[in-house]
Amino acid sequence: MTNAPIRPLIAGNWKMNGLAAALAEATAVRDTLPSLGGNAAEVMICPPATLLAQLAGLAKGSPLAVGAQDCHWAAAGAHTGDIAAEMVKDAGASAVIVGHSERRADHGELDRIVRSKASAAHRAGLTAIVCIGETRGEREAGLTLTVVRRQLAGSLPDAVDPTNSVIAYEPVWAIGTGLTPSTDDVVEVHAAIRAYLVERFGAAGQGVRILYGGSVKPANARELLALTDVNGALVGGGSLRAEDFLAIVRAAL
Ligand code: PGA
Repeated sequence: MTNAPIRPLIAGNWKMNGLAAALAEATAVRDTLPSLGGNAAEVMICPPATLLAQLAGLAKGSPLAVGAQDCHWAAAGAHTGDIAAEMVKDAGASAVIVGHSERRADHGELDRIVRSKASAAHRAGLTAIVCIGETRGEREAGLTLTVVRRQLAGSLPDAVDPTNSVIAYEPVWAIGTGLTPSTDDVVEVHAAIRAYLVERFGAAGQGVRILYGGSVKPANARELLALTDVNGALVGGGSLRAEDFLAIVRAAL
């Protein structure tokens, strides 16, 4: 088993925010990254699909990576309004978020759908950023680790390795609320995720990045990113302005 240090990933999830003018924020991130001291962290922005190709164009040749927020499981066909992983790749992205709790809630995405989307990402040569996390009710009922293990078992395809998959632990009650779990709780859940990954994927599971997400901001990023088995962050609201997002990136370096 290798224990090489894991390069953190700071991924911004713009959700359904951003018109063309928002590309100026991405441009500011791109232009600042080279001065931040090398390649210590991977930095990614996941814009809405309407901006994906433009953002990929402006990020090309720079250290800024680009991801999508969702994909369909099929490669092509009669799925009005959907976007295939192959199209995401073709637009210039290197990754795609799958199974975000907002998609699970808004679109009824079950673990098996998330799994097929993660497989589609792998088929297209994209990194799947697979999101999991408990609701407030599940946490209060003491079910957090049970839920997280069940979601991992159902949502991850068998081909997971450190190059094609990232896990994002996002407690649903912490998303967009300003609330975060205690550092002890984050460490406990990330340790359980790591244990699951190693149990199922062996040495490969040791190197898969586990991001924390949910109300990450400049004021708490350094503390969260220093925790054991926290290999980066998935950032929503804190990624919309270049200044905030870059402050979070700096906390990872
Ligand atoms: P938030 O969202 O940072 O705005 O809480 C995180 C996410 O949903 O990815």
